Amino acid sequence: MEICLHNLWNEYELIDCGNGRKLERFGEITLIRPEITATGKPHLSEAQWKEMANAEFVETSKNSGRWDIFKPIPETWRMEYTSRSHKRPLSVSRREADGMSTASQREETHITAELSLTTSKHIGIFPEQVINWQFIERESASYGHESFLNLFGYTGLSTVFASNFFDKATHIDSIRKVVEWTRRNAENSGRNNIRLITEDAQKFVEREIKRGNKYDGIILDPPAIGSGAKNEKWIFDEMIENLLSNVNQIAKRKSFIIMNLYSHSVFGMEIRELLHKSFPNHNIEMCEEVKGLSKFGGKISHGMFVWMKS
Ligand SMILES: C[S@@+](CC[C@H](N)C(=O)[O-])C[C@H]1O[C@@H](n2cnc3c(N)ncnc32)[C@H](O)[C@@H]1O
Repeated sequence: MEICLHNLWNEYELIDCGNGRKLERFGEITLIRPEITATGKPHLSEAQWKEMANAEFVETSKNSGRWDIFKPIPETWRMEYTSRSHKRPLSVSRREADGMSTASQREETHITAELSLTTSKHIGIFPEQVINWQFIERESASYGHESFLNLFGYTGLSTVFASNFFDKATHIDSIRKVVEWTRRNAENSGRNNIRLITEDAQKFVEREIKRGNKYDGIILDPPAIGSGAKNEKWIFDEMIENLLSNVNQIAKRKSFIIMNLYSHSVFGMEIRELLHKSFPNHNIEMCEEVKGLSKFGGKISHGMFVWMKS
């Protein structure tokens, strides 16, 4: 699947890409960042890139680097996302409690993302998640509206978006700083139904199984390697099978699960096979590679997207 994110969210634009880098606009700020999947040639010249960009992240080793600043850049800036359908379904219980008529449920779903340059190349957002937000908006009306869970949730934009469609959204990440960032994104977006938890994703899921808690919707974006809040090891290839089987136990019989994946096989087992084994009651729709198109037709990879519905 090839997608031009700018058509879905006009505040974001992949302007150009190539030679292992990408030139992107996030609201009013334009950045150059490394992009391993930008294998083609850029359309614009180096001078044109530098002319447009506020800053460039230059990698100095595998996991670190520095920002070279070309134009003034605020410590934090914002991007706004407003969904196109302008509908916000509320749960029956909340609707009744609010005494709302059907007509008054119709309103825009709006989120505010706070962005800033960090010591890594990341800035608080993965704009390709907009595809998942559209899935949540489209599909959540067919499911219970009680509870949504985001595992490996980073700065929480998916949590904040989904919280518009559920009575409660739970956000899990192992890094306190990004959980605090989620709190600000929630506040700036006017959401107050989010439970923020700094914890190892696997431990949280295990505890939820014991507590008997189940979710109507779950999203997870497990990295290749990570670590829990108490330095618990996360190694995708070794642990994904167990995590998925546990996630299935905390998904309601009727539920949806969204996943972003970057590995094609785990211990030689195809991801598709693993998903069918882990989620026997769900229909699995999988896009092996979502490609992001630049303004000039260049391509980068956003990895694999999986949408499962029961
Ligand atoms: C690729 S990011 C997810 C991005 C997210 N999909 C979004 O769009 O904002 C992966 C996140 O997983 C978190 N993480 C890594 N290991 C973890 C673990 N064991 N438990 C919980 N979170 C973990 C990292 O702190 C990071 O924020």
